[in-house]
Order: sequence, then C-alpha cells, then structure tokens
Amino acid sequence: MSHLVKNYNRKKISFKFGRGSFLYSTNGKKYLDFVQGIAVNSLGHAHPKLIKTINTQSKKLWHVSNAFIIPEGEKLAKKISKKTFADYVMFQNSGTEATETAIKVARRYFYSIGKPNKNRILCVKNSFHGRTLAAIYASGSKKMTEGFGPKIGGFDHFVFGNHKSLKKKINKNTAAIMVETIMGEGGIKVIPDWCLKELRKICNKKKILLILDEVQCGIGRSGDFFAFEKSGVKPDIVPIAKGIGGGFPIGAVLMNKKVASGMIAGTHGSTFGGNPLAMSVGNSVIDIISNKKFLNNVKNLSKYFLSNLNIIKDKYPKIIKDIRGRGLLIGIQLHTDQVKFIKKLMENKLLTIRAAENVVRILPPLNVKKNEINQALRIIKKVCSEIN
Ligand SMILES: Cc1ncc(COP(=O)(O)O)c(C=O)c1O
Repeated sequence: MSHLVKNYNRKKISFKFGRGSFLYSTNGKKYLDFVQGIAVNSLGHAHPKLIKTINTQSKKLWHVSNAFIIPEGEKLAKKISKKTFADYVMFQNSGTEATETAIKVARRYFYSIGKPNKNRILCVKNSFHGRTLAAIYASGSKKMTEGFGPKIGGFDHFVFGNHKSLKKKINKNTAAIMVETIMGEGGIKVIPDWCLKELRKICNKKKILLILDEVQCGIGRSGDFFAFEKSGVKPDIVPIAKGIGGGFPIGAVLMNKKVASGMIAGTHGSTFGGNPLAMSVGNSVIDIISNKKFLNNVKNLSKYFLSNLNIIKDKYPKIIKDIRGRGLLIGIQLHTDQVKFIKKLMENKLLTIRAAENVVRILPPLNVKKNEINQALRIIKKVCSEIN
C-alpha cells in the first residue's frame, strides 16, 4: 500500500535512472522521455556539467539564509538581467511561488505609489499559473478551485483571443494583465507577436503592468531564451521556474526597476529560495542554454520536428486535428480524447503528457538529438496507423 496522498493519477511505472533523452524503468525497459519532468529537465537526465556543478558545490555550501549575501545568486541574477528586460530578480523554489510572488510585486508597486486600490489582476480564463490558493483563482478554472473556497478575490478573467472582452474587463482597479506567453497546460496555445505588442500598448495606455508567465515556455523552450523576446515586447514582471534548474527546484521573478521599487526589505522572503546549491545549478544551466548556437539548434530541431509532424497530420487527418507550438514546446491536437493515444505511445516506449483541448504535449530536452526526434516520429506514425 502506498502512503502517498492520492492527488496524482500516477501511471504504473517507475524509473531507476535517466541519461539524456532516455529513462530506464525499474523493470528493465528503456523509454524515450519527451516529458522531461514537464519541461523541467531542460538539458535531459544526468547532464555531466550539472552533475559536476552539484558535486563541487555540495562539498562547499548547500544552504545559507537570505539574511546573508549569496554570491552564487548575485551571479545568476546578473546573468539573467544582462539577457533581458529585468533589472532585478527574486529567487523562489517553484513556478507557483514565482507567479504568486509576481502578483504580490504588482500589487505592492501600486500600493507603494499611493494607489492601493489598484490591485486586481486580469488573467486568461482556464489558464495555468500553479496550485497555490492565489494561483488557482488566477487560473480561473472551475476544476482547480472546486472545494478550495472561500474564493480568493482580486482576479478577473477574459477568454483567450477575445480582445473585446479583455478591454472590457480592465477597470480603474486593474493593476496588471497576467498571461502565459505560450499556454502550456491550456493546450499549447501561442500568443502571436502582434498580440503581445497590442497587450503592451494596452498596458501602457491604461498605466497597468504586464506580467508574462514564462514558467513553462521560458529558458530556451521556445527557441529563444524567453518566448516574448521575438516580439520586442518588454514585460514588467516575468515569473520563471522549471527549465532554469534543469531538474533542481528553482523559481524566480524577474522585474524592472520601476516595480522592484515597491519590494523594500521585509515585504517578501523565502527560506530556501536562491540557496547556494540551487544557484550554482542555475548558473550552469543558463551558461549552456543562453548560448546562441544552442538556441539556434533548438530552433532548427523544432522546424524539423514540426514539419514532420505536419506530414503525419496530413496523412492522418481523421486522427490529428492540429500541430501546435513553438520551439520544443509542441502539441499534437487530436480530434478525440488523447488518453488512449498517450497510452499507445507509452506502450511503444515514447513518454508524452496531456494538455487541455485533446492535446498530446511533447517536451523533449532542449539538447535532444535529431535521431531521437526521428525515433519519436516513427512511434507517432506507428500509433496513428494502428488507431486508423
Ligand atoms: C505557466 C505555468 N505557470 C506556473 C506553473 C506552476 O509551476 P509549479 O508546478 O512549479 O508550481 C506551471 C506549471 O506547470 C506553468 O506551466
């Protein structure tokens, strides 16, 4: 009997070890892992540089309180700031903490400039910003909030793509618009660049903040270091997590100088957030992923993967409705429920995971090899032909 709480619908499989794109199960089978801890293991399993970093740092210092200066965190914050709009970074431990903190930063900014009533956050209905109380109400999903009342107030929602409803929902109490640059759990829906630009314009006009949740789509996953980069848009606040730790729990909130001014000493904290062990891993991950050549390779692999998936879609139009995504955040949208399809992929030793709207989500490591993509394509084609 398992003494773990039953809050997950776990597949009956466990793993002994992982190497790169592959996982090896306790019953001796080898799986192509295109889940990678849901976009967490950005460099695959057991990356030699990350192993070396952890080994070296673990012999020096694991944890000290944020009451002291942590040089590894200073270094990582500097690297992140150099790469992006951010002037300041605040480290956390997970995605939901990062989004929740992003909300706090937005509210605190308006409070600090004498506008405490500007505290409402406008989000996409049925988006995903994590599982803390504030994050589930920010996500606006009935399923996620059921049984967890009383409702946490301060969130309004608009329907993805409905620009009229978005504009209508902004009122004098709105502090920020918070959206995922690419909706992950919601079905791999990419916000087009023109739309991001429009969002920025609206925020400027209404003097409100733009929060882009890059927990899933950030850190190279889109082929750019951040998914919003290509649009030229500069957000005010960006929560990140997942890929930055390469498997080690790290979250962070990036922000510009203006909004950071509200976060004076004592306004927020985290016991574990930004400890030396986590920060040294983050530094190693960012050194590899932010390299232009590395990101170009992600873009090329993505092009190859997407075009071949589209060929399969054209061959099996009754099974596959749409191929979605950017970079290596890819969705195969089926006409019907995807559970059976995912199960069949797994029987053929390819691990994938679901997303909303009948989507099979594909998240290879960012350093996946072309022959591994070919292996996945062969399995996907085989499953399509069996189901057809
Ligand atoms: C866009 C987005 N925000 C927030 C989260 C929450 O992250 P975590 O599960 O690390 O708390 C997720 C997790 O999937 C996510 O995809």
